[in-house]
Amino acid sequence: MQNNSIQVKGLQKSYNQLHVLNSVDFEVEQGSIFALLGSNGAGKTTIVKILTTLLKQDGGTATVNGFDITSKPDNVRQSISLTGQFAAVDEILTGEENLIMIAKLRHLKNPHQVTDNLIKRFGLTDAANRRVATYSGGMHRKLDLAMSLVGKPQLIFLDEPTTGLDPEARLEVWKIVKELADSGTTVFLTTQYLDEAEQLADQIAILHEGRIIASGTLAELKKLLPPTKVEYVEKQPTLEEIFLAIIGTKEAK
Ligand SMILES: Nc1ncnc2c1ncn2[C@@H]1O[C@H](COP(=O)(O)OP(=O)(O)OP(=O)(O)O)[C@@H](O)[C@H]1O
Ligand SMILES: [Mg+2]
Repeated sequence: MQNNSIQVKGLQKSYNQLHVLNSVDFEVEQGSIFALLGSNGAGKTTIVKILTTLLKQDGGTATVNGFDITSKPDNVRQSISLTGQFAAVDEILTGEENLIMIAKLRHLKNPHQVTDNLIKRFGLTDAANRRVATYSGGMHRKLDLAMSLVGKPQLIFLDEPTTGLDPEARLEVWKIVKELADSGTTVFLTTQYLDEAEQLADQIAILHEGRIIASGTLAELKKLLPPTKVEYVEKQPTLEEIFLAIIGTKEAK
């Protein structure tokens, strides 16, 4: 019966006088990539916090993996993983120790093997035995993402997963997100990068003034605007293409 990973109805949230979510409705299909777009302050992180049970809504209902967020918060937490907008890693531990800690907390049988694989996948081999306090911003971000993949959660929330990453790391994250969805994990992501949503998302929703004002596949959203007039102009490479060509990375398909 259940093929929606997330179902949200009439969600409301205010911070004192500030009405952030007026009535938010959407659904996320199991195994899909869902991108929530919205300007700064639109309420994206607020929605992520409510769905991951870190914050209580004022009104409306939501189920996550079939569990009601209000009456079954423990079940919700056990079935998801979250990479928040700001990294949640232990600065005193090394990257490797952070990953092993999470793997043990998740009761995995082979914490060292899982950790080694993730370290390789995120290109953190050289830094794995250094304290996280010495990591760059992008390295923090990668470790944070790696930590949320420990134990293959059914549903993963990524709040602005590629903010602060260099183009190469960004493409790597895109690849990982696609692989996750291919293996059946549902991905809920928020992003400021419209090309990211365009590249990754099966479903896109735009949050504006407390409501979802448009949602659908990219093709469906494109139908909302009249087709543009075709003009013939020489296509200049984007700075991203130049950057990637110079540092020698193939662009992800
Ligand atoms: N704890 C809080 N107390 C008061 N106001 C808050 C609190 N958390 C968020 N807000 C306000 O709620 C609004 C929505 O914030 P939220 O963090 O959900 O936005 P966002 O869409 O994630 O923005 P961004 O793109 O900048 O991350 C903002 O105006 C913010 O200032
Ligand atoms: Mg946010």
